[in-house]
Amino acid sequence: MRKIIIAPSMLSANFSELGKGLSEIADSGADWVHLDVMDGQFVPNLTFGPAVVQDLRQLNKFFFDVHLMVNTPDRIAPAFAKAGADLITFHYEAAVHSHRLIQEVKGMGKKAGISIIPSTPALILGDLLAFVDLVLVMTVNPGFGGQKLLKECLEKVRFLAEERKRRGLNFLISVDGGINSQNFAEVITAGADVLVTGSAFFNAQDKASYIGQMKGI
Ligand code: DX5
Ligand code: ZN
Repeated sequence: MRKIIIAPSMLSANFSELGKGLSEIADSGADWVHLDVMDGQFVPNLTFGPAVVQDLRQLNKFFFDVHLMVNTPDRIAPAFAKAGADLITFHYEAAVHSHRLIQEVKGMGKKAGISIIPSTPALILGDLLAFVDLVLVMTVNPGFGGQKLLKECLEKVRFLAEERKRRGLNFLISVDGGINSQNFAEVITAGADVLVTGSAFFNAQDKASYIGQMKGI
């Protein structure tokens, strides 16, 4: 069985205690921390900028999976790379020169990911699939935690897994939005390698057993 990476999202942490949220994620047996950056433009919500990531970076060496839900991501992505992100994912819909930005992020020694919202077909990623380290399929409309997973979007996960195999590529497939203990198995079966989980993780009484259940251990 392939390795499943679990990435709890800080979006559902208490923002007055972000360091505590990060520790809860690191102590739970999860693999990555998912950091949702929102600009109030691309999505109707605001979260945090590079300074917050830089301060969290001082607390531990956990893998920082930064998800930029911002317009013109090329303007801000380098600042997140400098702040200590390990992976920077931006939205296909928000960037004009996606390929250039992927190359720039990689040139800064970081992994590069591309994401699509529910209304964007996976087919449009075409040639870009050969250049990215990760494709993030959103299974909710971005902006808020605690929404219901749109099962129709899992068809894109199946398509990407098949396409990866057919073309001999090796990007990871990440799924983000509405994942919980009732539906994670279906998401893994569809072909996901990375499961982002926000509200279900922070609502879980026993976070370690929630993560253990998802990792099959
Ligand atoms: C939504 C964010 C997600 C969100 C997931 O815009 O990109 O990462 O935090 O939260 P849940 O798991 O609650 O849907
Ligand atoms: Zn996210």
